[in-house]
Amino acid sequence: MVGNVTLVHNGIIENYSELKSYLIQKGVNFNSQTDTEVACAYINYVYENMKDFKDEDERKLKSILKACLDFRGSYAFGIIFKDTPDVIYSTRKDSPLVIGLSDEGNFIASDISAILDYTKKYILLNYMEFAKIEKDNVTIYDKNLEIITKKINEATWSATECKKNGYEHFMLKEINEQPSVIKNVYSRFFENKDENYSKVDFSKYTNIHIVACGSAMHASLIGKYLFENYANIPTTVEIASEYRYKKLLLTPSTLVIIVSQSGETADSLAALRISKENKATVLGIVNAVGSTIAREADITIYTHAGPEIAVATTKGYTTQVATFACLVINAMKQKNIKYDFTLENEYNNIDKIIQSVIDKTNEYKDIAKSLSNRNDIFFIGRGNDYNMCMEGSLKLKEISYIHSEAYPAGELKHGTISLIEEGTPVIAIATDKELYEKTVSNIKETKARGAFTIFITTEEFKDTYTKDFADITLFLPTTSLFNEAIIIVTALQLIAYETAKLRGCDIDKPKNLAKSVTVE
Ligand code: M6R
Repeated sequence: MVGNVTLVHNGIIENYSELKSYLIQKGVNFNSQTDTEVACAYINYVYENMKDFKDEDERKLKSILKACLDFRGSYAFGIIFKDTPDVIYSTRKDSPLVIGLSDEGNFIASDISAILDYTKKYILLNYMEFAKIEKDNVTIYDKNLEIITKKINEATWSATECKKNGYEHFMLKEINEQPSVIKNVYSRFFENKDENYSKVDFSKYTNIHIVACGSAMHASLIGKYLFENYANIPTTVEIASEYRYKKLLLTPSTLVIIVSQSGETADSLAALRISKENKATVLGIVNAVGSTIAREADITIYTHAGPEIAVATTKGYTTQVATFACLVINAMKQKNIKYDFTLENEYNNIDKIIQSVIDKTNEYKDIAKSLSNRNDIFFIGRGNDYNMCMEGSLKLKEISYIHSEAYPAGELKHGTISLIEEGTPVIAIATDKELYEKTVSNIKETKARGAFTIFITTEEFKDTYTKDFADITLFLPTTSLFNEAIIIVTALQLIAYETAKLRGCDIDKPKNLAKSVTVE
């Protein structure tokens, strides 16, 4: 609170030190180092210097608007003035904000799941729109402070979906939801229940840029693998925070795909906007319905994973992979590329197959015991297996705080193998027939240097497998290549989960992390 103004803020005011120096010159004192206090002080300063308004409401709204025009960065604000403690003023730029509407009162939150216990009705604000929120009334204004009418949305998620429902952690609950949500992605596609797939005409595009962050970027690597290997479309995967500042070689025949569970990740959103400015067609693969990326993409395909509460994404990632599989099948159909319909047959049983992976709890617990007291863990694999390693490694380090790295197995001898010492855990993934022997040779190289080796492969290799190089072996069901990452990564999620549990970590809310990264 500064003077007349109290506020809550989600985002970052990038030019806060400039504004702070200005306010210090004007005699304002500060109690903290935060950009939020500067935002609060600045709105208060503008408000106090706007004295000629007959209408107090107009004065408050104008001071918020004027202050916001001087802010650089991102914000969602809830603002209360001292003399009207029952009124919340609100506005946003680049940070998410929902205004929940109910008969018992109205409120603001940054995520729909936070309001579902009270209401399913909500309003979304655009940049330069302002809200005055009272117990029984919500008024929305445009940038000229004219009253406007906004659409009232109805959330499709239920409050029960946002509860643990008997599971010890949200992460475990969300892992266990994968059989049904993956089946749902495929049935929506194969039973033609989602018209958005047909809006993407792959015959128009000569190349694809997939842009995302974190696990969504790892799911995109699987997408790239499938697009290139099956639909013959050259595809690059770009980290959103890099993409937004690099030279974009976009042509009218480039399709840009932005992948985001939350639909609010700041860098992914910026990449979307830059791509659109460059006249590219943008396809969004998004989970959160009505989120900013979903709204701003030219075409949006929802992954329908339902609310994901645990910071570490699980069903968010696997539904993105399944959505890529559907898109690639569609691209093949549109380009008359022959395929053997394995996926179409497999999807009928996919829920049971994933459930059989989840049910191997004791094996995950055993692996977790061998990892939980280690400081460094390496994941190795080749081709698409390496893409899965990246997600497995991220999941493990994110929730168990054990340092881990994913390496293309063939790269080890170019440097990293010097880190392998007695007992260092090395998790090797080998699911690809053509690369199996190569990966086995690489794991043997680490074993020879004292590594504790964990070998993850599929049942099709049971006959050729020799026991001599692995301390622990995990066999998982054999599926088509379209579903392999879903199967393997589900197991890796559970290994990470059991390891973090043994270490007593705060699994759903790992330190230093937020569920959606709405700042740059
Ligand atoms: O909401 P998004 O899919 O855009 O989020 C991207 C990443 O921040 C996210 O996947 C992050 O890496 C997860 N915490 C990983 O579990």
